[in-house]
Amino acid sequence: MGASDELDYLKTLVSQLNEKIKALELKAAASMPRSPAQQLRTILVGPPGAGKGTQAPRIRDEFCVCHLATGDMLREQAKKIMDSGGLLPDDIVVKMIRDQLEKNSACKNGFVLDGFPRTVGQAQKLDGMLTERKEKLDSVVQLLIDDQLLISRITGRLIHPASGRTYHREFSPPKKPMTDDVSGEPLIQRSDDNAETLHKRLSTYHTQTGPVVEYYRKKGIWHGIDAAQSPAVVWDNMRKIFVQKS
Ligand code: AP5
Repeated sequence: MGASDELDYLKTLVSQLNEKIKALELKAAASMPRSPAQQLRTILVGPPGAGKGTQAPRIRDEFCVCHLATGDMLREQAKKIMDSGGLLPDDIVVKMIRDQLEKNSACKNGFVLDGFPRTVGQAQKLDGMLTERKEKLDSVVQLLIDDQLLISRITGRLIHPASGRTYHREFSPPKKPMTDDVSGEPLIQRSDDNAETLHKRLSTYHTQTGPVVEYYRKKGIWHGIDAAQSPAVVWDNMRKIFVQKS
């Protein structure tokens, strides 16, 4: 190997090591016990396909909080209502969140809520629950994106049901078609991920969840993020909100 080849090799090695050190530092910081002031309690709001389920696991992993996705929790029991594009009764969903906050030890540093609250009634009940627990919400992050961009995101989405890992046929394809990269198990398409149901889900989002956004705007904890950018850019912008707060 010539001197310049060796130099290039060493430079690459150093840059790879720096990357690795950065990743390990982040991991170590995230696993440190957090004081109450460092805890994170946040909500992701956005239309179907905006990227809530793509970004929430990053928040969970970096801030060591639980990720509560009501759609995933309900999918088995409530397929019929979900396939119609409507919402489940507030009481059922609120009870599910209450149970998780009380019993799930992964929620001890806080939470990221994905798909809840979806009505003003749910938002008010969440406020009541948090007051009882002497906790408060840090932020509500709305993923902003035009409805037209969501059709291709939703109809191309593929899911690994056991882990919740999400892929996209075009934007984020698995290494092997219809196969989860990690487990090698088959991927599926959600039964509500078709153009007709999406239309109803979008209309439900605008009429019922739109007022939830106003509810949190008035409380001064709302943040909007352009969700039409790449997942990495969306994450960078989102992370800045949480880091400012902690
Ligand atoms: P739920 O499961 O919450 O569905 P949703 O809100 O419609 O949201 P999605 O999961 O479809 O979208 P997402 O924003 O997570 O997008 P993702 O990141 O996967 O709820 C389903 C149903 O359950 C409801 O309709 C209702 O019936 C019921 N329900 C749930 N909660 C309820 C509640 N609180 N009260 C009453 N009923 C309730 O991304 C989508 C695709 O796009 C993926 O393939 C991804 O790879 C790709 N993608 C993501 N980000 C980007 C990007 N930046 N660029 C390009 N592609 C991207």
